[in-house]
Amino acid sequence: MINKIFHYHRSSKHNQHAFAPGPGQLDWASQPDPFRRYEGAEVFPLIKAAQTEGPTFSEALTPNKVSACPLNLESVSQLFFDCLALSAWKSFQGSKWALRVNPSSGNLHPTEGYLICGPIQGLTDEPSVFHYSPETHGLEIRAHFSMETWEKMRLSEDTLFVGLSSIHWREAWKYGQRAYRYCQHDLGHALAALNISCAGLGWRTHLMDHLTHSDLETILGLPFKDESEIEVPDCLVAVLPSGNEPNINLNEPDYIQEFSSLDWQGTPNILSRSHMDWSGIDEVSKAASKSDRSLPNVCKREDHSNLIEDDTFPLRKAIHQRRSAVAMDGKTQIARDTFYQFLIKTVPNACPLPFQTFPWEPQVHLGLFVHRIDDLPRGVYILVRNKNHLEDLKSTFSKHFKWEKPEGCPYELDLFLLEEYDCRRMAAGVSCGQEIAGAGCFSLGMISAFEEPLKNYGPWFYPRLYWECGAIGQVLYLQAEVSGIRSTGIGCFLDDPVHHIFGIKDTSYQSLYHFTVGGPVDDNRLTTMPPY
Ligand SMILES: Cc1cc2nc3c(=O)[nH]c(=O)nc-3n(C[C@H](O)[C@H](O)[C@H](O)COP(=O)(O)O)c2cc1C
Repeated sequence: MINKIFHYHRSSKHNQHAFAPGPGQLDWASQPDPFRRYEGAEVFPLIKAAQTEGPTFSEALTPNKVSACPLNLESVSQLFFDCLALSAWKSFQGSKWALRVNPSSGNLHPTEGYLICGPIQGLTDEPSVFHYSPETHGLEIRAHFSMETWEKMRLSEDTLFVGLSSIHWREAWKYGQRAYRYCQHDLGHALAALNISCAGLGWRTHLMDHLTHSDLETILGLPFKDESEIEVPDCLVAVLPSGNEPNINLNEPDYIQEFSSLDWQGTPNILSRSHMDWSGIDEVSKAASKSDRSLPNVCKREDHSNLIEDDTFPLRKAIHQRRSAVAMDGKTQIARDTFYQFLIKTVPNACPLPFQTFPWEPQVHLGLFVHRIDDLPRGVYILVRNKNHLEDLKSTFSKHFKWEKPEGCPYELDLFLLEEYDCRRMAAGVSCGQEIAGAGCFSLGMISAFEEPLKNYGPWFYPRLYWECGAIGQVLYLQAEVSGIRSTGIGCFLDDPVHHIFGIKDTSYQSLYHFTVGGPVDDNRLTTMPPY
């Protein structure tokens, strides 16, 4: 199985001579519907919640700062509004498309969300499974189940569960073989969006990663007939009031059986008239699906949350105004301390949210290309997000690197200057020639430990490496809004040429996702309309 993962990873790489297999030209006639609907299922409308009230960004990210909201229709509405809802409609020359709170590669939105809950005041008297519809900000009722099952499943009085799944075809339609990677990035973004939305309500999340693929399929009601539009269950997240340590029984869950015989309502809509198969996607998806109850080593974390600087920016304003920059101005500079705040927010020891949901020790480091930061030389840097990897990174990377701590860098932040030079052209070049990677304040490649964690934990850990990357990206997106600039996720990069910059010659570390942060240039040709 692990060889299937390595094979997919290799064959979905871009390089300077060829891109990974993809459609080249888009077949607009088969463009997948971005909205999943369960036709015939009753829809329960949620409340279109406030965008400005509530904690500031820094308050939400600081552990135990926000007191827990009661679980009711209002708070559940706010939860989904802040993590998976629409955030705007855009139009240009007669076409119109929706944007969302959670970003997605190519705005294709492969991620679907589900709510599994007990009775909730104002929403349901019975334990139920709902599908979340971002199009209407409503919940489609898929099934009700017994109180007896709910009592076995819930972790405390006030638990709910959010399930996430991916429809790979939505991304494969445009990106071909590399699409599986993008679906996993998007899942990571959605997971972080969920964590941050919960943080705003004083709730915390816990990834139920002991469940197998088949458990998830059963709980979410997802064994689909249509192979070409298959919806793959990715994870179930428990949501609890902060301060409640979940007590999870890792044995065979005794509540799953009932889900296999529920009376499921609604038929999933057909997303495309025709489909094009991309070899490799189903194979890697099957190879990476979890078949046992093993878990990675749980990591203990130091607490450096004192590094988070207070801000006055409302969390929900940042969430709902978040946008990808389509171009960078090539001139905006940011202060060195602002840059350090970006980095602090990505380090689990300093900013456990949204990374607390991942029980494993951090695997992903940031290989940074610094372009325009006051009092910081241009060049290539590394932020080591897990000290345990430091010596290994030093011995893997090029021998001529300096490993110098930059001036003013907080002691606890493991940031090092590797090589000083103007790397703007190179950063754009390895991001498939996209100017945004060289014209911002900084850009980066997320360099993940690769071979060792995959061999240690198994093939199911492959998507999780991308989830960690997506979560880092989500924090960068929000911090950019708070800092008055913008950022953009970059899934299109040249894999091995990036490795070459750092001197990585094998698969011990691989770059899995890129990002750029800087002063945006807006596209004024587009018209923006409210989400609902
Ligand atoms: C995983 C991922 C990869 C992306 N890759 C690129 C990219 O290579 N180039 C680019 O310009 N934008 C990229 N984007 C930005 C998306 O195009 C953008 O998120 C999408 O159009 C939705 O717009 P929004 O972020 O403003 O909601 C990426 C976004 C994600 C989440």
